[in-house]
Amino acid sequence: MASKLTSALRLCFFFLALWILPSDAFQPRTLSQLPPVGGVVSALPLLLNTSLPINNVTALLASFPANLTGNLTGLLLPNATELAKIQQYVLNVTRPTVASFIDGTNTTIDCVPIQAQLSLINATLTNQTLPLTPPVGPRLNTTTVTSAVPVLNGTIPRIITPAANATALLNRTGLNATCPNGSVPVPRLTVADIARFGSLQAFLNSALNKGPPPNVTAPSSASDGHEYATTSPDRSSSDTPPAFYGMQTSMSVWAPFVDQPVGSREFSLSQVWVTGGTGIALQTIEAGWQVDTVAYGDAKPHLFIFSTRKGYTDPVCYAGRKDCPQGAATFVQVSNSVYPTITLDSSVANGDTVQYTLLVVRDSPTGNWWVKLGSEWVGYYPGNLYTSLAQSADSVALGGEIVDYARLPGAPPGTPHTKTDMGSGEFAAGRSPATVAYHYNMMYVDEDNNLQTLDGIQVVNTNPAGYDPDCYSGQLVSSTTGSEIFFFGGPGFSAVCAI
Ligand SMILES: *[C@@H]1O[C@H](CO)[C@@H](O)[C@H](O)[C@H]1NC(C)=O
Ligand SMILES: *[C@@H]1O[C@H](CO)[C@@H](O)[C@H](O)[C@H]1NC(C)=O
Ligand SMILES: *[C@@H]1O[C@H](CO)[C@@H](O)[C@H](O)[C@H]1NC(C)=O
Ligand SMILES: *[C@@H]1O[C@H](CO)[C@@H](O)[C@H](O)[C@H]1NC(C)=O
Ligand SMILES: *[C@@H]1O[C@H](CO)[C@@H](O)[C@H](O)[C@H]1NC(C)=O
Ligand SMILES: *[C@@H]1O[C@H](CO)[C@@H](O)[C@H](O)[C@H]1NC(C)=O
Ligand SMILES: *[C@@H]1O[C@H](CO)[C@@H](O)[C@H](O)[C@H]1NC(C)=O
Ligand SMILES: *[C@@H]1O[C@H](CO)[C@@H](O)[C@H](O)[C@H]1NC(C)=O
Ligand SMILES: *[C@@H]1O[C@H](CO)[C@@H](O)[C@H](O)[C@H]1NC(C)=O
Ligand SMILES: *[C@@H]1O[C@H](CO)[C@@H](O)[C@H](O)[C@H]1NC(C)=O
Ligand SMILES: *[C@@H]1O[C@H](CO)[C@@H](O)[C@H](O)[C@H]1NC(C)=O
Ligand SMILES: *[C@@H]1O[C@H](CO)[C@@H](O)[C@H](O)[C@H]1NC(C)=O
Repeated sequence: MASKLTSALRLCFFFLALWILPSDAFQPRTLSQLPPVGGVVSALPLLLNTSLPINNVTALLASFPANLTGNLTGLLLPNATELAKIQQYVLNVTRPTVASFIDGTNTTIDCVPIQAQLSLINATLTNQTLPLTPPVGPRLNTTTVTSAVPVLNGTIPRIITPAANATALLNRTGLNATCPNGSVPVPRLTVADIARFGSLQAFLNSALNKGPPPNVTAPSSASDGHEYATTSPDRSSSDTPPAFYGMQTSMSVWAPFVDQPVGSREFSLSQVWVTGGTGIALQTIEAGWQVDTVAYGDAKPHLFIFSTRKGYTDPVCYAGRKDCPQGAATFVQVSNSVYPTITLDSSVANGDTVQYTLLVVRDSPTGNWWVKLGSEWVGYYPGNLYTSLAQSADSVALGGEIVDYARLPGAPPGTPHTKTDMGSGEFAAGRSPATVAYHYNMMYVDEDNNLQTLDGIQVVNTNPAGYDPDCYSGQLVSSTTGSEIFFFGGPGFSAVCAI
């Protein structure tokens, strides 16, 4: 006990020394050096972030969640040089903190002053006045038919919406978990978070595996290995509006199995894409839930928010995700309770169906693209960073996406199709919200800030490159209330989905 304490103290002094010694490699900023933003941030005492990086590979391994899915035995652990680099990176990006707490999902959260968040220390956003008050949300057009429950095949599940407000979402284990006003929740980055990627570079490249919506051709090869079951407007339909100012959906949340073969990065997600332009000019705002065991360190669904401004060829990242490199961070967090990457509750087959309402919307006075989960405005992408999405979006898409390692360059020939589940792991044909993942009450925002039912949509099953359509499926079904439901998903590898 005593010797442990001594070595912990020694480590402590080492990093304290790193912290206070003048060094080109590590220059923490003070609040007064931070760029101004709109709104008032109350003066709060800054605490020294006491999370110490670890430099012990045994301890590192022990810190990984014991029950990560997939095969992690072949993980390439960082060597000593790499570990030192990782430690330096952690020190570089660690932000000033006004408070810390452990949230309802056992995540250590640091409360970072709004203007000290990673996206706002980039020169692109420095000195801009950025709004910190949520926009006026779109109105529900009275002619729009909505229903809280998709009434369909079989038993109607109990639909629960845990994100009805932020307190409910964060207080799942009875913890009072919000950040002080003027600060935003940031999950604490540790050396172990990076080490499980094998190297700093692999960690920083992590977002490169995001794929475009399947009906849009992007110039990158990012779509290799990606499979989809989505729905999107049929351009030839007279119901398709010329422009979109946002998209709202009520989506069920599941915790699909995601395989993680050595050397791969698979994920499974359900999301909304809001897109403008094509090719290199393609710009997107994306949000939904995602399971990615390596990125999040667990097998649970997490809220994700993502954007590209150059057809997936720019340095992009998932907003607020620990692997988001400083130069790529552009999402401005505003909520002091709901943060990008927050763990979401998930549905139980034939039990409770967990449904969250998600909205991506352009705020017309500022042009900023906001994301709202349940009743909480999470934050926004500054509108002036966009060209194709500067005025409005051309299209939208909703549905599921997975990555299949077998289709990625470098996978050994003959590698079978991944067993990664999409949605709940059940095919769309089940048509029951109690067992199959869905998007429902799909409504776009028109130019007058009205929510309108999205009609004239078609199903886009899997990648246009021609992947086996029997691995995952999507189906549009009319509900008894008139609003369409999109069911999607599948189990991946099976007799009809082998290669
Ligand atoms: C590394 O960590 C493990 C587990 O915490 C501990 O047993 C071991 O003594 C540590 N080794 C060193 C060199 O500190
Ligand atoms: C993984 O661990 C978590 C927390 O300890 C537990 O709730 C969950 O049931 C475990 N999952 C599996 C598949 O063992
Ligand atoms: C896990 O991966 C290692 C290294 O690639 C391999 O040797 C081992 O057989 C795999 N284990 C399982 C259970 O697939
Ligand atoms: C340590 O790992 C890094 C990254 O994987 C590699 O580039 C480097 O050559 C390794 N150094 C040694 C001494 O093995
Ligand atoms: C840490 O920051 C310094 C100064 O900006 C930079 O030179 C160095 O490359 C960074 N190190 C890492 C590992 O990110
Ligand atoms: C919370 O996390 C800590 C540290 O990772 C772990 O020791 C503890 O068992 C976790 N608690 C729960 C309830 O999962
Ligand atoms: C921001 O404003 C400060 C003070 O006016 C100025 O010194 C600095 O150069 C500006 N930074 C940028 C990137 O414009
Ligand atoms: C609803 O949308 C229609 C156009 O689809 C529009 O004519 C009508 O004024 C809107 N109603 C409200 C209350 O905004
Ligand atoms: C938030 O949700 C909880 C649990 O559902 C409820 O008790 C509480 O009244 C809600 N608070 C507000 C402000 O809506
Ligand atoms: C969180 O939940 C606990 C127990 O359920 C309750 O006592 C507490 O007031 C809640 N905190 C907030 C901020 O709602
Ligand atoms: C700032 O962000 C832009 C756009 O994401 C990026 O190109 C640039 O490299 C970043 N600069 C720094 C210093 O991080
Ligand atoms: C209802 O669901 C079952 C499977 O759960 C499926 O076989 C059947 O085709 C569905 N019926 C309709 C009308 O969708």
